[in-house]
Amino acid sequence: MKKKKTTHTICFANNKGGSGKSTTCANLGSALAAMGRKVLLVDGDMQLNLSLSFLDEEEVLALASGGKNLYTAVTQEKELSEFIIPGGQENIDLIPSSTLMSQIEMDLFPKWQREFILSKLLSGIKESGVYDYILIDAPPTLGGWVMNILIASDYVIVPVEATPWGLFGLANMFEFIGKIRQMAPGLSILGVLITKVDERKNYYHQTAQTLRELEDIRVFDNVIHVDSAIEWAQDASSTVVVYKRSARSAKEYLNLAKEVDQLCQ
Ligand SMILES: Nc1ncnc2c1ncn2[C@@H]1O[C@H](COP(=O)(O)OP(=O)(O)OP(=O)(O)O)[C@@H](O)[C@H]1O
Ligand SMILES: [Mg+2]
Repeated sequence: MKKKKTTHTICFANNKGGSGKSTTCANLGSALAAMGRKVLLVDGDMQLNLSLSFLDEEEVLALASGGKNLYTAVTQEKELSEFIIPGGQENIDLIPSSTLMSQIEMDLFPKWQREFILSKLLSGIKESGVYDYILIDAPPTLGGWVMNILIASDYVIVPVEATPWGLFGLANMFEFIGKIRQMAPGLSILGVLITKVDERKNYYHQTAQTLRELEDIRVFDNVIHVDSAIEWAQDASSTVVVYKRSARSAKEYLNLAKEVDQLCQ
């Protein structure tokens, strides 16, 4: 009999918009898959950015309006395995999102134990042992839906830009995660990932050092530099790991995947 895998569920959260959550979720997933890990990506954001990293716009919009998406699954409390589609890369599956995700807080409001719905709906997939990793992309908010995403996860990765406003929101983020941990003690911060690094800026060096001096919070050894290949890949509905493996950011995401994989063992 084939041995069941231990499934690690990691979400990407930061209430600061544009910090690199979706780019990291897509590219880390793509890099883990390229290493031979079996990955399920779950798009939890109405912006559909994770879905758009694997499928073209037409297909994503059709899935969003056609009902085969996370919004339908969560609001109708349906078994999530029915909503999985192939991600177009070996070892990658995807549960796409819907623009209706913008109203999910209202839909969840009257539900019983509403913070635990995603966790319950994911439990069957986790127990099946099919996947090494489930990666969930979160929107840039700190409400009840992100609470669901965090409670459904074993780990959270916090992508952050080394800018003044990038750092400003981190304290709130950590406080929020601390509160969630009281309800979900199994959740831990896997690490802070510094994204969109520009070494020419002195401010980067200063803030990176500040981050690395934070007590009890791991900052990943690998950082992701600013790289236009990421945007070209996104334009081609792809990840940079697939689109241009020789790009600096592709190599960085592959190294990050090794770092994450080691930490999760
Ligand atoms: N390393 C990088 N180099 C260049 N551009 C990048 C890099 N990482 C992300 N970007 C770009 O920065 C923007 C924000 O990235 P992304 O959408 O991943 O952030 P996000 O945190 O998911 O945003 P949101 O909070 O809106 O969900 C996107 O346009 C993306 O293409
Ligand atoms: Mg995003």
